[in-house]
Amino acid sequence: MVATAPAKLILCGEHAVVYGQPAIAVPLPDLRATATVQAGAPHTGLTLAVPDLSPEPIHDPQHPLLALIHATLHTLAAPAAPDLLLTVRSSIPIASGMGSGAAVATALVRAVAQWYGVAMTDAAVSDLVYQSEQRLHGTPSGLDNAVIAYAQPIWFVRQSPAPLIEPIQIGAPLHLVIGDTGIRSETRLPVGAVRQAWQAQPAHYTALFAAVGDIVRQIRTILALPQPELPLLGALLTANQHLLAQIGVSSPALEQLIGTAQAAGARGAKLSGAGWGGIMLALATDSAHAAHIAAALRAAGAVQATPTVVQAHG
Ligand code: MEV
Repeated sequence: MVATAPAKLILCGEHAVVYGQPAIAVPLPDLRATATVQAGAPHTGLTLAVPDLSPEPIHDPQHPLLALIHATLHTLAAPAAPDLLLTVRSSIPIASGMGSGAAVATALVRAVAQWYGVAMTDAAVSDLVYQSEQRLHGTPSGLDNAVIAYAQPIWFVRQSPAPLIEPIQIGAPLHLVIGDTGIRSETRLPVGAVRQAWQAQPAHYTALFAAVGDIVRQIRTILALPQPELPLLGALLTANQHLLAQIGVSSPALEQLIGTAQAAGARGAKLSGAGWGGIMLALATDSAHAAHIAAALRAAGAVQATPTVVQAHG
């Protein structure tokens, strides 16, 4: 049984989304995590193989991914300790802001559900992965698991008792370039630093988050237009970046790639994900322009620069 899940790209609203502001994220279908389930040898219990990371299979039930599989079995009302061999592979760069952990977790949940012949809803998959992300990251908003489980562009608001997740309309294809600083940054570190800063200066940070929220609402409106207003959209993305820098999650390497993209004519550019490293995105006018920006980013030291198109949707 094989299941896959895409990487994700946050267009706007990261960090502020943890504090209740909206965010917009899209799946990146060309980068995927894949999980395979097979019958294991008798009396071996659950075995997880992650050949890209380690030659030794994992048996420790405390391991976050095995804990997730146990939670999935519980949800499915399946036997608690079946003899199963699960293998995960992923083409998504780790700790780069593209949701590699959530994609691996999503593929695993879907593969196990398929093994037992259960059709899980996107919401149920997203919930299970969210619980796993909480064990790893402390205070995730739930945005990453939602966009990966729903595998479509979404509007996301963290709220009680359940998040608001809406598919959004993309009126015309969006040409983006994703530039990778090559600096790995674990999500929980900048997220924790922002929490401390917010606790120290709640009014200041709440105002920054609200300003991000205003930008995200405007971006949703522009994205729905059949002819996107690229200069305005780009200016809003760049304004989001300025707020992220004030929030404290940009970095010299990100700023350098963002400046390079702008010098190459990008309509707007910003970091994407948790920051302090990982990836940035730039808005191009068309495919040729995207290729030009990607070449400039590579020349400026990006370890990868990938043009990508977010297709019209909804
Ligand atoms: C990380 O991909 C996105 C953040 O907004 C954290 C979160 O939403 O949990 C930085």
